[in-house]
Order: sequence, then structure tokens, then C-alpha cells
Amino acid sequence: MTQHRIALIPGDGIGVPVTEAAMRVVAASGASITTQSFPWSCDYYLEHSRMMPVDGIETLRGFDAIFLGAVGWPARVPDSVSLHGLLLPIRKAFVQYANIRPHRLLPGVQGPLRKTDFDILCIRENTEGEYSGAGGRVHQGTSDEVAVETSVFTRAGVERILRFAFDQAKSRRGKLASVTKSNAQRHSMVFWDEVTDELAKEYPEVEVSRYHIDAMCARMVMAPESLDVVVASNLFGDILTDLGAAIQGGLGFAASANINPTREAPSMFEPVHGSAPDIADQGIANPMAAFWSAAMMLQHLGQDIPATRIMQAMETVCGNGVGVVPGQHGTDEITTAVLAQLQD
Ligand code: NAD
Ligand code: IPM
Ligand code: MN
Repeated sequence: MTQHRIALIPGDGIGVPVTEAAMRVVAASGASITTQSFPWSCDYYLEHSRMMPVDGIETLRGFDAIFLGAVGWPARVPDSVSLHGLLLPIRKAFVQYANIRPHRLLPGVQGPLRKTDFDILCIRENTEGEYSGAGGRVHQGTSDEVAVETSVFTRAGVERILRFAFDQAKSRRGKLASVTKSNAQRHSMVFWDEVTDELAKEYPEVEVSRYHIDAMCARMVMAPESLDVVVASNLFGDILTDLGAAIQGGLGFAASANINPTREAPSMFEPVHGSAPDIADQGIANPMAAFWSAAMMLQHLGQDIPATRIMQAMETVCGNGVGVVPGQHGTDEITTAVLAQLQD
């Protein structure tokens, strides 16, 4: 098996223990990887006044994939500094335009809703839209102050994420839900709808439905089983995928892959959750989201057998009731249970 080089960025708070646990699980899965860890985090910032070195992006470019725990510690470094100094530039620099976030219940996990058998794949645009960074503030601190945050949607950007989502729908159950707010946002979102209609002609086998973001939030709670692939802009996708995490049992279960489909630059894998300062250092973070993200990374690298072994081990452990009730089992206990399955 080809050996892949992985850059690890454990980051802040619970990002550190879940990354460590995920790498133990990857090692036990039979995957063929080497890792190099980078200490880029809010602590690093407090020492160096930067979230990563000037050549950080170039350093990462040489790896086959990046695994990130979580970044951010708002009490020490403003989020507007930490996220714009590390996570967001990596997504942009490596054109990881497709953020894939699966939402389904592992066996034994009781979501807060009635248990329905849903299997949703959220595809989030990951490089532009509401996260373009365009905008500014004038007359700061005065009563005339104005703050502008401009969303930028390019034809190239919208087309490639929609095409990616159509392809995913085609390879799954053939249903694509496109999420906008085109009733209120009459420029960008109407444009998004138009591009969706154009592409739909190329995919007659895919059934496309349009939803407004508000209605989609309700649908994900009331009828998640009716959804297959859901595609949304950067911000709407961000919000929907914490909702997706909630219906799949919590943020401790939600995995994500930031993919550059051209493979011209490394893709990045990370749990959907953040650094969780409220529970950091307590040993109670659920590492399942990190394990799932690691499995997605191995699958992306073509290491399908270890990827499947990790998913099966997680499913068995959850099926046995370990890690499914929030707070009942700690990070170590859940990790040990998954490792035991992999060593069988
Ligand atoms: P968060 O996801 O860190 O936490 C939200 C809630 O979910 C908290 O109550 C937390 O304890 C709980 N939670 C999260 N992950 C959990 C897990 N694995 N097991 C058990 N409980 C878990 O979101 P937040 O509090 O809004 O953000 C904290 C910091 O993380 C901020 O700096 C934020 O910007 C950053 N953040 C980073 C990423 C990332 O690096 N990808 C993602 C989201 C938030
Ligand atoms: C996520 C996170 C990030 C995002 C933040 C930390 C900038 O919430 O990966 O979902 O909004 O993309
Ligand atoms: Mn988020």
C-alpha cells in the first residue's frame, strides 16, 4: 500500500486530545501513513504573533492530506484573528471548495429527535460566498458607523460546487436539495438558482428540489429521512451542518472533509466541532467525529480497507452502547473501545 504523509494540526482545546485519539485509531486500522505534527494554535499565536509561520501554507503543500483538530480560543485570541490566520486560509489556498459533511445516526445513538433512518450528505461551498472576506468598516466608533460584509459568488465557484453535488447525488439516491434564500437575496441566490437549473439539464437522473434555508432547517428536524444530498453556500452550509450534527446525536459525531477534487493540492479532514473551551481538559470530548473524519481521509487517499475497518469499529462500539450517551464515557474509554475492535 502506498504510504501517505499526513500533516497534523491538533490546534486548540479538545482538538488536541481528539487528534491524538484519532491517530491511535488510524495506526491500529492498518493504514499506511506517516505523520508530522505542527503546533499552530492560539498558544503559538501568543508566542509568535502569527497562527502559523509565513511559509506555513507552502509547508503543508508537500503533504498528501491535512488532519486538523480544532482552532480557536476566543478568551485569549479573537476568533477573527485565529480562524483567519489558519483554518480559513488553508481551505482557500488549497482550493478545498467542497466541504463534505455526512449526517446519519450510528447504531445505538439516540438523537434528540425520534429515531428515523436518515442519511444526509451535506455539501458546503467552502471557499467564497459569505466567507469571501470582502467588506470593511467606516466611521468606526461613531454614531455613523457602517459595517459591510459582502458575499461573493462567482460563476466558476458556484458551478463547480453544484456540479460536485450533482455528481454525489447521482452516485447516491439521486436526490439533490439546493438551499438558498433567493426570496430575500435577489442577486447571489437567484444566480445560484439559475446555475442549478442550467446544470440540472445535464443530470436528468437527479431529482432537484429547491429549499429556502429557513424551511430547510425545519425539514432537517421534521423530516430528515426525506433528504439525500443537500448543497448550500458557505454560511448556510455551516449553520445546517451544526444542525445536522445535532440530529445525529451531537457535535461529537459530525465529521467533515474539505476536498480539493482536482487533487492538485492536499485536502483537509477535521471534525465539524470547535475547540469546546467549556469542556477542554476534562477528558470528556467525544472523539467519534475525529475518528470518522480520519476514515474519510483514508478513503480519500485510497486506503479503503482501513477506512472501512474504522467505520465498522465505531459502529460496533456505538452498537454496544459505548459513547452514545453524552458524558457517560470519556475520550479514553471510547478510544480504548474502538481500539479493541480494531485489534480483534
Ligand atoms: P464548539 O463546537 O467548540 O462547541 C459547541 C458545544 O458543543 C459546546 O458546548 C461543546 O462542549 C460541545 N462539543 C463540541 N464538540 C464536542 C465533542 N467532541 N464532544 C462533546 N461535546 C462537544 O463551538 P463554539 O463553542 O462555538 O466554538 C469554540 C471555539 O472553536 C471558537 O473559537 C470557534 O471559533 C472555534 N471553532 C473552530 C472550528 C474548527 O476549527 N473547525 C469549528 C467550530 C468552532
Ligand atoms: C466550521 C467552523 C468554521 C466555519 C469556523 C470556525 C470559521 O464553524 O468548520 O464549521 O465556519 O467554517
Ligand atoms: Mn461550523
